[in-house]
Amino acid sequence: MTETKALINELLDKHGNKRNSLIPILNGIVEKEHFLTKEAMLEVAAQLDISAAEVYGTASFYSFLDTKERGRNVIRICKSITCDMKGKKEIIKTAEEVLKIKLGENSSNKRFSLLETNCLGLCDEGPAMLINDECYTKLTPSSVREILNDLLRNKV
Ligand code: FES
Repeated sequence: MTETKALINELLDKHGNKRNSLIPILNGIVEKEHFLTKEAMLEVAAQLDISAAEVYGTASFYSFLDTKERGRNVIRICKSITCDMKGKKEIIKTAEEVLKIKLGENSSNKRFSLLETNCLGLCDEGPAMLINDECYTKLTPSSVREILNDLLRNKV
């Protein structure tokens, strides 16, 4: 049995094999493997007895359910209108400089992915970003530089 299949079995034991277990199971796979492979989505579809299209549709609807390979640390900068007006372009430029990758890329050592995301619901505190599950708000180029340099030093 592959590692992914073993993980899916573990998640099925934990969450059950009903349709409403789909999101917790997909989330559990992303937590461990950082993204959903085609094989993982097909296996989940088979186990929950739903179509692969439904699994893929759900995964592509939620930006946190990645279907492309991601780094261990996923940095998502809000691209929606309020954060855009509050200077998200400068935030992205700074993040690209510090991480030495472009928006949409993974670092070659698979430590980081730099992405945009839709509104995080923190518009009054924008510009906002998420690093994995943690929110950062009222960003400035210098605060982003500091946050990302700390992350680089952490060696995670
Ligand atoms: S517009 Fe960025 S958090 Fe809402």
